[in-house]
Amino acid sequence: MIPSISLSDGMSIPQLGLGVWQVPDDVAITVVADALAAGYRSVDTAAIYGNERGVGAGFARSGLGRDAVHLTTKVWNSDHGYDEALAAVRASLSRLAVEQLDLVLIHWPAPAQDRYVDTWQALLQARADGLARSVGVSNFQPAHLTRLADETGEMPPINQVELHPHFQQAGLRAFHREHGIVTEAWSPLGQGSVLGDPVIGEIASGHGVSPAQVILRWHLQLGNVVIPKSVQVERLRQNLDVFGFELSAEEFARIARLETGKRVGPDPDTFG
Ligand code: A2P
Repeated sequence: MIPSISLSDGMSIPQLGLGVWQVPDDVAITVVADALAAGYRSVDTAAIYGNERGVGAGFARSGLGRDAVHLTTKVWNSDHGYDEALAAVRASLSRLAVEQLDLVLIHWPAPAQDRYVDTWQALLQARADGLARSVGVSNFQPAHLTRLADETGEMPPINQVELHPHFQQAGLRAFHREHGIVTEAWSPLGQGSVLGDPVIGEIASGHGVSPAQVILRWHLQLGNVVIPKSVQVERLRQNLDVFGFELSAEEFARIARLETGKRVGPDPDTFG
């Protein structure tokens, strides 16, 4: 039911998954188990979220086989560097209580540290060692991606970035298209800030769906991988119910005009 998006490394990722940023460890168990019971087959966490144990426990509680669920985690800014990043991947595996991740991302380039190329080498090694099926990056700008490809010969197959109707990343998406990189959107609802937008509201009324469903549909039609976060079962279900309607070209044009140029999260060129 949830489409899969192919990655340039030969693997794939469900186009819609559950994000668990800001979900406490003890709540994550229930949310992940609820989401998997509702039909989600992908969960996106990170070492810094402090809930990898809960995510792993929620997966275990679901009773689903390891192959049925795509698990992503991320290496935090304090673990940049070859040895540090490899150790961080092993620590995440231990907390999640699984033997292999489906996807490990460098969480932020943290360019001031100037270590993300070493970290990328470590993730490539982690993949070669079987600790991860795919490796990729998050919050990378074109200059950072180009440097990885130039210095290691391997362009990441996926980049997870802030992306929603108020911050659409048109330039970065074009760069991704040109280089075969899948775009994954974090905070696809703008951390909830886009839900009250009147244009989104009008489009939602026209289709008899919620604002969240319109925004998620917009992402899916753009080809983005999305990981909306919710801790409420009803919203988890609603966010999954986005395959039964289609936004028109005219509705797309209206949403294109909602760009504000303003991020809700940090600037990747200076953060970390
Ligand atoms: P909650 O977890 O209480 O449901 P994003 O994924 O862009 O960061 O957005 C997450 C925010 O949007 C959270 O505050 C979440 O709240 C809220 N949210 C998620 N899904 C929905 C929905 N279908 N309707 C309304 N709010 C939602």
